[in-house]
Amino acid sequence: MRGPMSAVDVGVALLGYGTVGAAVHRLLVESGEEIERATGHRLRVVRALVRDPGKARSFPAGEGVLTTDFAVVRDDPEVTVVAEVMGGLEPAGTYVRELLRAGKPVVSANKQLVAREGADLFSIASEAGVQLRFEASVCAAIPVVKVLRESLVVSNVHRVLGIVNGTTNFVLSRMERGGTYAEALAEAQALGYAEADPTDDVSGADAAAKMAILASVAFGSRVALDDVETRGIEDVEPAHVAAAAELGMVVRLLGIATLEGGAVDVRVQPALVDRSHPLAAVDGAFNAVVLQGDSIREITLEGPGAGGVETATAVVADLVSVVGTSGTGFLQNDACWRELPRLDAGEWRSPSYVHLEVADRPGVLAHVTSRLAAHDVSVAQLVQHLGDGDATLDLVLHRAPFGAVSRAIAEIAALPEVLRPPFLVPVVSERAL
Ligand code: NAP
Ligand code: HSE
Repeated sequence: MRGPMSAVDVGVALLGYGTVGAAVHRLLVESGEEIERATGHRLRVVRALVRDPGKARSFPAGEGVLTTDFAVVRDDPEVTVVAEVMGGLEPAGTYVRELLRAGKPVVSANKQLVAREGADLFSIASEAGVQLRFEASVCAAIPVVKVLRESLVVSNVHRVLGIVNGTTNFVLSRMERGGTYAEALAEAQALGYAEADPTDDVSGADAAAKMAILASVAFGSRVALDDVETRGIEDVEPAHVAAAAELGMVVRLLGIATLEGGAVDVRVQPALVDRSHPLAAVDGAFNAVVLQGDSIREITLEGPGAGGVETATAVVADLVSVVGTSGTGFLQNDACWRELPRLDAGEWRSPSYVHLEVADRPGVLAHVTSRLAAHDVSVAQLVQHLGDGDATLDLVLHRAPFGAVSRAIAEIAALPEVLRPPFLVPVVSERAL
C-alpha cells in the first residue's frame, strides 16, 4: 500500500489583511490538513500587504508576514500564488498587473476591478501564461463562476437572474415586514452588510459590477460596466411593497442578463417577483442566482453573498483551483471568447408593473388603458384603491418591449389626472404574463 502523499509547499501572499484577508489566513490555517488531504498541497501565507501593520487583526498574521512594501511581496521567491483582497481600483490594479507579469497567478475578490479592467488583466495573464480567478468577486460564498465555466459548459445559458447585493435585499425584505427604507438601511449598516458609504449598494452600482462579470462569463462575451442599465432602490416606497403583496408578489433588486437573438442585454433594477418564484424566497442579506439554459432549463444557486469568512471560502477555493490546474487547462484563459452586440435599447421584453396615483375622475381609466393600447401594451391585472378624491392604480402589464411600455407610461405621466410620477418596474413570474 502507498504511504500518505507528501505535501507540496505553496507560498501564498495576500494583498490586504482586513475582513476577507484575515479570514482567508484563518481558513488556510484551520483547514490546512483538509486541504492537504484533498489536494496534496499545503498552502501557507508567507506575506500580507497592509497599510498599517500596527492595527489589531481578527486573526494573527504571524511573525514577519505583514509588510507595507509591495516590492517585498512581488519579489519574494517563496510566493507562488497571490490573493488580492484589498479592494479599490488603484493601487490594486497596478499590483495585480505587476504580479501577473512576474508570473504569479492571482485570485481576486475585487468586483469593481474585474468588471472595469478584466479585459486588460486577462490579456496580461494570458501573455504571462498564468491564471487570474475571481470567484469571490460575485456573490461571496456561492460558487457561481465555477458552475458557469465548468459544470454548465454545454448548457447555452441565455438568461441569468440574480439577487446579487445583500444590503438591498435586506432592506427590501425589512420593508415587507413594515419597516421604512431609512430604518431598514440603518439596520443593514449596523449589521455590517452595507458598505461604509452604502451608495454603491442602494444605487445598484455594486450589483451592476457583479452582473457585468456574471454576464461576461455566462455568455462568453465581455459586458462593460457602462453597458449595464442600472437603477437602484432609492425610489421604492412602502406603497409599492404593499401593492406588490396585494398582487401576490415581492419587490427585489434584480440583476437580469439576457442573450436574445445573439444580442446581449444586462440590467439592474427593482422588479416585482411572483411569490412562487425561487427568488421571492431569498430573504435578508442572502444572494441567489437563477441560470436558465437550453439543456438545464433552470438551476438556482443560493447562499451568503457577503461577509469575511463567506467570501474567504471562495478565495480559498480559487487558490486550491490554481494549484490544482496550473500549467495546462482552459481555466487559465479569459472566459470571454467572442464579441456579441448589445440588444437595441428598448427591445428587451418583460412583463411589468406600474403604480399610478390619479385623480378620481370619470374617464381616467380609459385614458390610461388607451395610451397602453396605442403602444400595443396589454393589461394583465388591475387593482384600484379609492382615496379622498384620488385613487391608486396598480397594473400588471403583459410581456412587451420595455421601450414601448416606457413610452406609454411617459404619455400617461403627462396626463393632467396623474398626480405623481409613475413607478414602473419589470415583473418576474412563471405565470404566462
Ligand atoms: P477591508 O476590511 O477594508 O480590508 C482591506 C485590506 O486591504 C486592509 O488590510 C488594508 O490595510 C489593505 N489595503 C487597502 N488599501 C491598501 C493599500 N493602498 N496598500 C496596502 N494595503 C491596503 O476590506 P474587505 O472587506 O476585506 O474587502 C476586501 C475585498 O473583498 C474588496 O475588494 C471587497 O469588495 C471584496 N469583498 C468583500 C466582501 C465582504 O463582505 N467584506 C464580500 C465580497 C467581496 P489595513 O488593514 O492596514 O488598513
Ligand atoms: N455590500 C455588498 C452587499 C457586500 O451588500 O452585497 C458584498 O459584495
